[in-house]
Amino acid sequence: MAKINLNGCDVAVDLPDDTPLLWALRDGLDMTGTKYGCGIAMCGACTVHVDGQPTRSCVTPLSAVAGKKITTIEAVGEAKVGAAVQAAWQKLDVVQCGYCQSGQIMSATALLATNPKPSDADIDAAMSGNVCRCATYVRIRAAIHEAAKTLA
Ligand code: FES
Ligand code: FES
Repeated sequence: MAKINLNGCDVAVDLPDDTPLLWALRDGLDMTGTKYGCGIAMCGACTVHVDGQPTRSCVTPLSAVAGKKITTIEAVGEAKVGAAVQAAWQKLDVVQCGYCQSGQIMSATALLATNPKPSDADIDAAMSGNVCRCATYVRIRAAIHEAAKTLA
């Protein structure tokens, strides 16, 4: 049993300690906004924030996040940076099929939280682990710049 703070609420997860956080979120806590893509930390679809750091939940066991603060796509828009990112995503109509986009938004929000005015190179470096099979990369980069502009 691990206790975590999920999107501002303390919750106890009654699953084995080696359960990947992704499955604890999706199957144990009905938080299905975080997606499964590869299961081996190669695609970024499962990205959540752990104490503010973008983290691949598919390879992060529950034991590693006990007592930590987890933020998922369901709540990232409740804070200023996440709200700006989501608004920019909508304004620029970034999403195609949508499958990768929870992870993209989580990574983009983490980037802007630490680097409020990222260059193209900063964006490419921060987002390089988030794969989009619909190739929305150009709009993602533009939306990150747009969000940075609204936060300035
Ligand atoms: S599902 Fe976690 S990185 Fe692909
Ligand atoms: S929008 Fe389809 S995989 Fe990224």
